[in-house]
Amino acid sequence: LNELIAEGVRGRYILVRSDLNVPLDGSTVTDDGRIKASLPVLSKLTDAGARVLVTAHLGRPKGAPEEKYSLRPAASRLAELAGFKVTLAADTVGSAAREAAASLQDGEVLVLENVRFDPRETSKDDAERGAFADELVALTGDNGAYVDDAFGAVHRKHASVYDVATRLPSYLGDLVHTEVEVLRKLTTDTQRPYVVVLGGSKVSDKLAVIDNLLGKADTILVGGGMLFTFLAAAGHKVASSLLEEDQIPVVQDYLKRAADAGTEFVVPTDVVVAEKFAADAAHETVPADNIEGSSFGAQGIGLDIGPDSAAAFAERIKGARTVFWNGPMGVFEFEAFSAGTRAIAQALTETEAFTVVGGGDSAAAVRTLGFADDQFGHISTGGGASLEYLEGKELPGLSVLDR
Ligand code: 3PG
Repeated sequence: LNELIAEGVRGRYILVRSDLNVPLDGSTVTDDGRIKASLPVLSKLTDAGARVLVTAHLGRPKGAPEEKYSLRPAASRLAELAGFKVTLAADTVGSAAREAAASLQDGEVLVLENVRFDPRETSKDDAERGAFADELVALTGDNGAYVDDAFGAVHRKHASVYDVATRLPSYLGDLVHTEVEVLRKLTTDTQRPYVVVLGGSKVSDKLAVIDNLLGKADTILVGGGMLFTFLAAAGHKVASSLLEEDQIPVVQDYLKRAADAGTEFVVPTDVVVAEKFAADAAHETVPADNIEGSSFGAQGIGLDIGPDSAAAFAERIKGARTVFWNGPMGVFEFEAFSAGTRAIAQALTETEAFTVVGGGDSAAAVRTLGFADDQFGHISTGGGASLEYLEGKELPGLSVLDR
């Protein structure tokens, strides 16, 4: 980015891909972490006099405009936080965007409406994506440039991430740069003990990352909905808890291979079981190998790790030199089932280890629970992107810039 700024950007249209995919409650942004993270690059460019066109997605609309996926709340929050003028175009590459771009002044930002309102953004067809990229690029006139600052989307081969970079002089944004530097510390010369905390609902989302961590991580602490598939793989009944039956053999294979690879899986010894999936559900803590023994019998649903497990996990975290955490330990959105996630966040703030929180859900969890970003080594803006980086996969948004 500094190279681009040194070349001179005053009066030029700079297309910036940001990650403004933030959680909303109606039209209120409930976690503005990604918006704040996108500010430094936008400030640098506007300070240097660029006319900035921001592209971003929100949610997963089906290729057509839908009010609930409008970028309006995100753009408004950006405008509140920014020291420069921010407006939102009513469409992405249509007449509204073209007119707003034409009247943009030096040092101002125009956010184009959700790129996923156009089906070509995510198309598998290169020509379709290319045609959409051409329309985005056309907004930059004849002296434009592209900056990829959307770390959370670098794993997507989408028009606004990948194809525009094949059409414009392209630069790496500071956010992407920092994220990659930090995640590299988790894959090369990692300080050990290296403890990974994995949660979230599905094992199937984490398969490749677990595979890649065998032999690299010293310990993998398992929480969240996925823990029940681990319990089932060890032969325990899990009542009505979340279970991915088809993943049981996969998990059994991991447990077998982990021992040879020198990675230890630590699965909870107690869990909080609820009568139903609700914030005010009756609940009790039971041993993890006797979930059906709760008062709710076969109806019981495990919604959090228990206090003994949380304490044991915290001990491991305190003894580590590197910790990566992805995925909440329980249904933290419900106060009654947030203790496990809170205990892990607390342990991360107390350890001497270098700590990285990865994944939109975990980042939102720590902020919702009242922790501040600067209590952690790094809070990644990437969910899927940080996992895919750790999986060792090629990330289209990065490889296109390398080329
Ligand atoms: C994220 O939330 O991880 C990124 O913004 C990417 O969103 P996506 O998974 O819908 O592509």
